[in-house]
Amino acid sequence: MHHVEPIEWKPEGVVILDQLRLPGEVVYHTYTDYRHVARAIKDMIIRGAPAIGVAAAMGAALGAQHSKAETLDELRAEFAVITDTLAKTRPTAVDLFWAIKRFRRRFDELAHDAAPSSDPAAEIANIKAALIAEALLVHEERRAADRAIGKFGAELMPHTGRVMTQCNAGALATGGIGTALGVIRMAVDSGRTIEVLVPETRPYLQGARLTAWELHQDGIPLTLITDNMVGHFLRTGGVGAVVVGADRIAANGDTANKIGTYGISVLARENNVPFYVAAPISTLDLSLATGDAIPIEERSSHEVTHIAGVHIAPDVHAAHPAFDVTPNRYITAIITERGVAKPPYTETLRALAPSHH
Ligand code: MRU
Repeated sequence: MHHVEPIEWKPEGVVILDQLRLPGEVVYHTYTDYRHVARAIKDMIIRGAPAIGVAAAMGAALGAQHSKAETLDELRAEFAVITDTLAKTRPTAVDLFWAIKRFRRRFDELAHDAAPSSDPAAEIANIKAALIAEALLVHEERRAADRAIGKFGAELMPHTGRVMTQCNAGALATGGIGTALGVIRMAVDSGRTIEVLVPETRPYLQGARLTAWELHQDGIPLTLITDNMVGHFLRTGGVGAVVVGADRIAANGDTANKIGTYGISVLARENNVPFYVAAPISTLDLSLATGDAIPIEERSSHEVTHIAGVHIAPDVHAAHPAFDVTPNRYITAIITERGVAKPPYTETLRALAPSHH
C-alpha cells in the first residue's frame, strides 16, 4: 500500500518531512541534534500523536548517539536532559510521553545489565546501539499497529458512500498507513467504494493541507469542506460513518483529539451517524479517570490571526486551544490494534490493555 513517510532513521540522522511546507513543497530536513528534533515537534514540522512518539524515540536515540560521555554516569545524566527536552514540546498527545517513558526504562535496563568492565567506551557504544534499535522497533510497532487498526476498522466502514474524518490521522501523523486514514485505506483496498469528506481543520489546516494531499496522492476520492460545513454534510450528505484519530484517551473513553472533533461527534449523534475513534494502545492514558484531566495545549493566537504569514484578522486576541475532548457517550467504538472496544469503555479498554497505565 503506497503512502508517504514522515520520518526515517538514516545513518546521517533523523530525516523528517516538513509538514509546515506541505502541500506546496515536499522538503525533508536531516537532523543530527536532538534539540532540533524537539524543536521540530514543538513547531509542528512533524505532528500527529503516534508520529511525535516516533520522533521522540528517534530524538532520544539521536541524542545518546552524539553524546561525548565517557562514563555510564555521564551518559545517564545526559540522557535525562535529552528526554526532558523532548518531553517539553507538546503536552496533549500521550504517545510522546509513552515513548519517553519507554526509553527511560530501556536505558535503565541497559545500564543495569552493562557488565562492569574495564572498558566503559564499549559499554557506552553498546547502549547507544541498543537505543537506536529500540527507536526502529517503536517505528515498526507503529506500522504494525496501524495495519491491525486498519483491518479491524475496515469492517466497520460502509460498503459504499461517504466517510468523514477530521484533522490528519494519516501516514503523516503516524509513520505507518495512518489510524483513521489507515481504516479508510484498508476499507478501500478491500473493495469498498468510499469518498472521504475532509474538513479543512483550522487553524493549522491539517485537513486541507495534509489529509487532502495524502488521499489525493493515493488516488482515494475526497471532497474538501470548510469546518463550518460539517453539520450540513452530516445532515444531508449521505455520510455513513465518521472516523477520527486521538491524542489521548482517558480510562472512561473520553477522547482528546484535534479541536472541532467534539462538535463533529455531537452532530454525528444528532444525525445517527456512527462515530469511531481509531488509535493505538499507546494513546490510552488509563491513569486518567475521565477526559477532564487531559491537558489541552494552548497554541499561539498568531496561528489563528494569520494564514501562511498573511493577516486574516486584526491583531486582536484569538483563542487557540489545539484540542478538545469528546465525551465517551458520543463514541460508537474505539478501534485499537488489539481489537474494537465498545461501551462501557472503563471495562473494555482495561481488558484490551490490562497492564497499561
Ligand atoms: O496538532 P496535531 O496536528 O498534532 O493534532 C493531530 C491530531 O489531532 C490527530 O487527529 C491525532 O494526533 C491522531 S493522529 C493519528
